[in-house]
Parts: sequence; structure tokens; C-alpha cells
Amino acid sequence: MQIGSLTLKSNLFLSPLAGYTNLPFRRVVRELGGVGLATTDLVNARSLLEQRPKAFKLIETCPADAPLAVQLFGSVPEEMRDAALVVEARGAAAVDINMGCPVRKVCNVGGGSAMMTELDKTAVLVRGMVNAVNIPVTAKMRLGWDDNNLTAPDLARALEAAGVAAIFVHGRTREQGFGGTVNLAGIRKVVAAVKNIPVIGNGDIVTPQAAKMMVDETGCAGVSIGRGAFYDPWIFQRILHLLQTGAVQPEASFSERVRVMCRHLDLMIEIFGEELGCRMFRKIAPWYAKRFGPCHEFNHQVVHIATRSQFQAVLENYRRWREQFLDEQGELQIRFQPRPLVASFMREPDAAPPQHIPVPKGAVEHW
Ligand SMILES: Cc1cc2nc3c(=O)[nH]c(=O)nc-3n(C[C@H](O)[C@H](O)[C@H](O)COP(=O)(O)O)c2cc1C
Repeated sequence: MQIGSLTLKSNLFLSPLAGYTNLPFRRVVRELGGVGLATTDLVNARSLLEQRPKAFKLIETCPADAPLAVQLFGSVPEEMRDAALVVEARGAAAVDINMGCPVRKVCNVGGGSAMMTELDKTAVLVRGMVNAVNIPVTAKMRLGWDDNNLTAPDLARALEAAGVAAIFVHGRTREQGFGGTVNLAGIRKVVAAVKNIPVIGNGDIVTPQAAKMMVDETGCAGVSIGRGAFYDPWIFQRILHLLQTGAVQPEASFSERVRVMCRHLDLMIEIFGEELGCRMFRKIAPWYAKRFGPCHEFNHQVVHIATRSQFQAVLENYRRWREQFLDEQGELQIRFQPRPLVASFMREPDAAPPQHIPVPKGAVEHW
């Protein structure tokens, strides 16, 4: 797949998840295979220019973490341009612009003219970045403010004219937050709105089948996966397998899940140091545990780890506790197996409610 001058090995993307898609996690998913391009958490352009250590930690990378896009946010054109230059000089393969929800003004003043003003302003900012760097500039957006203001097609058209090399669109409105159904028809409208650049669909891809359905129904050139990659870091490779062979591979086994979880912790410690790495891992380990079967014993204990050996002790303790749920072959008994994951847009109308997916407070203001 091609994004401007950048050739990618697959059309599968890791979406930015602030606080999660850091270097250790990106390396984990890349080691498992299938990822075409990964993106950093969003980075404040001004913080980069002010050389804040936290901003530089967010863009920390290594050869095994290529190709990498850095996602920037900010509203001052000169700052966004200069931050894009910094990112390019540090070897990023692409720079992505977090569009947040660009249509707040439409809502406040209730008119299309305000939206056009906003679009013009955005186009100026984007053009400044595109002209300054040689790497592709991409943009990530939602469908719009609410169902009555699905402005993404207009925005995508304006951004293509301003020179962006690809559009990432989360198929929900700002009003929907992270709930409700991802709107495939809305993504399709964005695909139809642009002429020559790829549109990447995003939202709720938790299984290979969901990825295929999004591609088939929207005509998008690729898909980007956020939370689904945390449930299932193997998902990229499983999607490729489905697209190439038509067959769905089973989810990773418990032992493979544990192996990758331990690898993830090792990388957290390598990159953040043992104390901080373990502290940060307290909120990561429960994502792996979501597919372990009964896991409250593990989740209760893992939130206290401060060292690698404490983590190992929690894991050993949990393995022993989990034995009560296994059959003679050592597999989880069927009644204790986690329910299959189903994307919102593939759920039967009367299906059971989805599993709770944690989203930090206020996130929707920006993403
Ligand atoms: C915890 C969390 C952090 C996120 N951080 C960002 C971010 O930094 N930049 C961004 O553009 N979107 C961010 N998003 C939105 C995701 O990239 C993605 O668009 C959304 O979660 C839908 O995709 P998914 O269902 O595959 O997760 C975040 C979402 C979550 C849940």
C-alpha cells in the first residue's frame, strides 16, 4: 500500500491510543507481524518545540519500530509546521494531524459559513506542513459533530486539496463518543469524497471478520485498529491471514498470550526502567487478562506490582488459581471461556451488550 511516497508492507495500521501505543507496545505488535504503519500517541506540537522531555519520550523510537508516524496536535500553523520538521528530522516516516473534532463552531453558531471558515483555516495549517516536509502528511478525523453534521466528507475533500496523503476516519460522531455503532455508510461517504488519496477506516475492529467487512462495505484502502490491538495484539497478522486465505485463525492460546504479555513487560522495563515500567504495566496487564477466562484474582494482584519478580509471582499464583477452571486436557472449560468479540457493526440488534471498553474521561474532546 502507498501513502504518498511511502510504501507500506500492509494496509493495516495501529491507531494512536494515548497512554498505550508507546514504543514497547508498538514493538510487541510489530514482532507479531502484519502492521503496515504504527502511530505514536498524540504529541503536543508546542511541547516538542519547547523541547519538553515528555514530548520527546512520546516520539522515542528505534529501528525495529519502523515505519512510524508521529501524530501532532495544535492549532497554530507555524508551530505545527515547525513540529513537523522536528519529527521529520528525527526519522519519522509520516506525520499525522489530529483533527479532533473540527466542527465545534458549526455547532455553536449553527451555520455552514462558520464551518467553511474553519475549513479554510485548517487548509492553511495543513498546507504549511505539507510544503515544509518531504514525508507524507496525513489527517485523522471523526465523521462529524453528530448525525446532522456529518462533515467528514467535506473536510476530507478540503484536506486532499491542501495536500494530505491519506485520511484516517473513525466511523463515529463526536456525539457518539466511543459507544454506539460505527457507521460504515459514513466511512463510505468519505471514501467517495476524495479523488486520489487512500481513506483508512477505523472503529471497533476487534476481529479479522470486522476488518474484512469494513473494507468490503466502505471501499476503504485499509483499516486502522486501536483497542482491538490491545485485546488481541495478533489481530494484524490474523487479518492478513483472512484476507489472503479466506480462513479465520483461532485467537492466541493462553500460553502464547502469557508469553507476549511477559515480552511486553520486558520491553516496558527496558524503555521506562523497572519501577516506572512496572507501574505503567499495572493498567496494561488487565487487557491481556480479558481473554484469559476468569481473571479477577490476577487483576486484583497485578495492580500492586513494582518489580519484575513481583509480576512473576502474581503470574505463578494466578496460573495455580486458574487450574480449577481447566478440563483434563488443560484447556479452559467451555463455560468459563470469554465471549467472542463482536464489532458494533456486526452485532445482532438483540445481542447482549458489548464488554466494557475503558475510555479515559474527556478523551472525546480531542479524539
Ligand atoms: C484510550 C484511548 C486513547 C486514544 N488516544 C488517541 C490519540 O492520541 N489520538 C487519536 O487521534 N485518537 C485517539 N484515540 C482514538 C483511537 O485512535 C480510535 O480512533 C478509536 O479508539 C476507535 O478505534 P478502535 O475502536 O479501534 O479503538 C484514543 C482512544 C482511546 C480509547
